[in-house]
Amino acid sequence: MQNEKVIYDDGDHKCIVFSFDNEEVEESFLAVNQYLIIQKNSAILIDPGSQSTYDEVYDAVCRYIDIDNLKYIFYSHQDPDVAGSIGKWSVSCAAQQIVSKQWIRFMSHYGLMNFNRVIPLEDKGAKIHFGEDYLHFIPAHFLHSPGNFSLYDSRSKILFSGDIGTSITSYYGAKSQDVTFGEIRESLEGFHKRYMAGNRFCKVWVQKVKEHDVHTMAPQHGSLLSGEEYDNFLAWFKDLECGGDLMESIY
Ligand SMILES: [Fe+2]
Ligand SMILES: [Fe+2]
Repeated sequence: MQNEKVIYDDGDHKCIVFSFDNEEVEESFLAVNQYLIIQKNSAILIDPGSQSTYDEVYDAVCRYIDIDNLKYIFYSHQDPDVAGSIGKWSVSCAAQQIVSKQWIRFMSHYGLMNFNRVIPLEDKGAKIHFGEDYLHFIPAHFLHSPGNFSLYDSRSKILFSGDIGTSITSYYGAKSQDVTFGEIRESLEGFHKRYMAGNRFCKVWVQKVKEHDVHTMAPQHGSLLSGEEYDNFLAWFKDLECGGDLMESIY
């Protein structure tokens, strides 16, 4: 089942979230948010997802843009729920594929054969022009992947945070833009404690994203957090013990 919502629109610049769920395997399926940013004749697709949702995502993108206007596809990291469809996208459109240089050699295992249109992101990240504005690729390494980035859109002031901010819930992210940090705190905790590598990475990421004026954080799974609720998330994440900080409990 699909759900989609425009989360920003000022006339020239638009951000849309698509969320997919599978009612038949609701218990075992991890619902994913895919994002599309459009400015005039340029668009970027963020974390398009696995092969199993490729057809639905492709159709959804084509409802908003001519596929020739899809200039970039950004993969925050290498996981199958993020990049599993990279091989399919590489043949169905002419977009440049942006991914951490740490993961490029692994992408052939998802069927990527042509590397001519791949842009490898250096560890320190990058800033690229997008229409009249900028997209910033912010290092988020080890949160949770060793080569991982968040994406900040300077026009909408949305931080596309990848797996950071993931809340494992039974409802769609797109429906739940108005939730409070307190309401989802419990569903954030288990995921972040296990999947994030350690508190020193959380601290440095929080410091990095605070350099930007963020209105809304849009994660790859679960709810979006805005304003004060985003600030509450940052305060919690900055001090979170996770991963290696808790290793005695799993070894
Ligand atoms: Fe992941
Ligand atoms: Fe994920």
